[in-house]
Amino acid sequence: MRKLRIGVLGSGKGSNFRAILDAIAHGRLAAEVAVVVSDVEGAGILRLAEEAGVKNATVIDRRYKTRLSPETEAELVAILTEAGVELVVLAGYMRMVKAPLLEAFPRRIINIHPSLLPKFPGLEAWRQALEAGEKVAGCTVHYVDAGMDTGEIIARAEVPVLPGDTAETLHARIQVAEHRLYPEVVATLATSDFR
Ligand code: GAR
Repeated sequence: MRKLRIGVLGSGKGSNFRAILDAIAHGRLAAEVAVVVSDVEGAGILRLAEEAGVKNATVIDRRYKTRLSPETEAELVAILTEAGVELVVLAGYMRMVKAPLLEAFPRRIINIHPSLLPKFPGLEAWRQALEAGEKVAGCTVHYVDAGMDTGEIIARAEVPVLPGDTAETLHARIQVAEHRLYPEVVATLATSDFR
């Protein structure tokens, strides 16, 4: 069976990327990670890629914190295209995605967000849920558009908010759900005829 070529973008420790690699290794996901790109030098996700023998690159833009300039984003597009990427998987990528990337991969960019969207877009969504007194939190996988966490929802998973939860314990519980949901969604896309 032909494997879907995915490109993973991340800024952090890369636990969702690790979950995707595990799903591939255990035959639950018919995909191949063609390249990992980070906007943070030395990010954990880059170390994981190195350890796994996955091609990786760093594309940094020091002019902005929350997006890339169009020129820098075009560099990113070139790396993804060169690697033959068919689906771009944002895994803790903390910058907004703009025109060059969206146009190069129409409906081919997905993101995982640590809340039950449309509730709590933006930063530290788990903390927002806790502070709002929610009894149920979770994560959402969605297509990426030019807005912040606004694209069409593909799937969500719920977790309870427990008495005594801190931001850390709640985020950890949400991450367990993320690590199950994200590989499942990518696996579904990999076997669909979207390509
Ligand atoms: C994940 O919880 C992901 O949902 C969140 O960053 C974390 C990355 O963890 N993403 C966002 O908040 C995007 N708006 P990881 O590096 O261990 O996969």
